[in-house]
Amino acid sequence: MKQLDALRQSMRRDRVFDFVHQRNLAQVDVTHGQLLYIEDLNVSFDGFKAINNLNFYLEVGELRCLIGPNGAGKTTVMDIITGKTRPDSGSVWFGQNINLLGLDEPAIARLGIGRKFQKPTVFENHTVFQNLELSMSGDKGVFSVYRAKLSDNDLDHIAHILGTIGLVAEQNKLAGTLSHGQKQWLEIGMLLIQEPKMLLVDEPVAGMTHGEMDRTAALLTSLAGEHTVVVVEHDMEFVRSIANKVTVLHQGSVLAEGTMDQIQENEKVREVYLGE
Ligand SMILES: Nc1ncnc2c1ncn2[C@@H]1O[C@H](COP(=O)(O)OP(=O)(O)OP(=O)(O)O)[C@@H](O)[C@H]1O
Ligand SMILES: [Mg+2]
Repeated sequence: MKQLDALRQSMRRDRVFDFVHQRNLAQVDVTHGQLLYIEDLNVSFDGFKAINNLNFYLEVGELRCLIGPNGAGKTTVMDIITGKTRPDSGSVWFGQNINLLGLDEPAIARLGIGRKFQKPTVFENHTVFQNLELSMSGDKGVFSVYRAKLSDNDLDHIAHILGTIGLVAEQNKLAGTLSHGQKQWLEIGMLLIQEPKMLLVDEPVAGMTHGEMDRTAALLTSLAGEHTVVVVEHDMEFVRSIANKVTVLHQGSVLAEGTMDQIQENEKVREVYLGE
């Protein structure tokens, strides 16, 4: 398919570059069990302090929910981790050894930090399978630029991801024909196929049916352990269904951190956030 080949070429150009420079050359050091260290972080936009002396840590393999009222700074934290926004001061380390503030967005992505935005951005005119194929990274990706056929390993990897995201039966359907929820899962699959260490997921269940929300909860909880996952979400029922540890952000700082029960009993949280 000519169109697919053209897309492959355009998408893979930066990955050829990855290959030349050896992907993930820098190994993240997590010997202390922490994957992310954010300390004394500050960001202002036109004088407005969006992030205010933020300290935020993640353990390897945890599933963390990040909640807080509109404008609390949740998306901005993700923008800073992924290199989209530069802070005014503070530090952001990936493991003990990698200073994320010294890297640009593509370099941060290559370290294995995947981000899912709210709106699904799948290739609607390609099948579910092709979407996953196109998202493969590293040397596998480079070889498929020159060679149409996928290796058995590649096929196994795609099959594994299709199973994880629950789209085995839909693999030959055009992505444009999927439901909203299925598109979201496909996009998560497109991140997973690159084997990220950390996944940042912003408002995954907005617009989903209850059935889709339940399946998304199962998917995200299944990813923890192998991946470190941060989920930003406003839907409290959903947060409760997946939450282990919850961080409440308010005016760019951590207001409270703990289990969902602890958070809901916290007076400060009730005042500013739950509106009780
Ligand atoms: N690039 C930017 N330029 C100017 N202001 C910004 C920028 N990004 C964020 N802000 C502002 O910073 C504050 C925090 O925004 P942010 O998007 O991080 O909040 P949020 O917690 O994700 O909110 P929501 O729940 O509504 O998505 C808001 O007041 C927002 O308007
Ligand atoms: Mg946001």
